[in-house]
Amino acid sequence: MSEQNAAPAATIEQDTVISLVDMNKWYGDFHVLKNINLNVQRGERIVICGPSGSGKSTMIRCINQLEEHQTGSILVNGQELTSNTKALERVRKDVGMCFQHFNLFPHMTILENLILAPIWVRKMPRKAAIELAMNYLERVNIAEQSEKYPGQLSGGQQQRVAIARSLCMAPKVMLFDEPTSALDPEMIKEVLDVMEELANDGMTMLCVTHEMGFAKSVADRVIFMDGGEIVEENEPDAFFNNPQMDRTQLFLSQILSH
Ligand SMILES: Nc1ncnc2c1ncn2[C@@H]1O[C@H](COP(=O)(O)OP(=O)(O)OP(=O)(O)O)[C@@H](O)[C@H]1O
Ligand SMILES: [Mg+2]
Repeated sequence: MSEQNAAPAATIEQDTVISLVDMNKWYGDFHVLKNINLNVQRGERIVICGPSGSGKSTMIRCINQLEEHQTGSILVNGQELTSNTKALERVRKDVGMCFQHFNLFPHMTILENLILAPIWVRKMPRKAAIELAMNYLERVNIAEQSEKYPGQLSGGQQQRVAIARSLCMAPKVMLFDEPTSALDPEMIKEVLDVMEELANDGMTMLCVTHEMGFAKSVADRVIFMDGGEIVEENEPDAFFNNPQMDRTQLFLSQILSH
């Protein structure tokens, strides 16, 4: 291949943040993820939905290797995920994760929770880590809570802290797994607002959520999973107004009837 032909391919590669190619995973005999193919471009906002047990969390957890896949490949920033520890560490630094339960350390203040990884993983001086942490706490509108402990905050506040904590590691992509599903209704909006701001700032995001309003207003693409497969994907308008597959139609009729 000539130099000229090689250049565009390199550009495409650079803009693909996550790539799953024919990826399969089993739990024992149970085939939980079946031939998953997914490319996520830089700056893309993707919402993943589907019935309970369809494999959404497992797929998200495979991307930062909290779970191992068995066949096919997963690439993050062009780096293939293998059991090579060094490569794994590098990938984990690039991938921020925010779960349903916030997983903050209860015995540490909010600020201490935020500066832990920058100091220990990124080797940042304490003063710089504090400055960084306070910046992100301000960004999620919670700077005044920095000296409190997680148990003294509401669920919505804790989730915003969890998002700020991920951002302190300067991730190139954020993975969300039902970040609002454990929250009381009045707190859901404050977390979705923070996520929307993050999206507007250009963060690449993969988000498992059933907040269809968020999907409609923020997502570039909605992915529907069922039975361990990606059944359908489309931009939000087409996905919601003109779903192609019976399974998607059934799922949408169920969740939208609430
Ligand atoms: N550690 C495990 N060992 C065995 N089976 C598992 C394990 N974790 C998940 N599963 C099974 O894998 C399937 C997919 O689970 P997963 O948590 O990915 O679904 P989900 O789409 O995230 O569901 P939900 O909407 O309820 O969160 C389910 O059938 C689940 O029971
Ligand atoms: Mg799940």
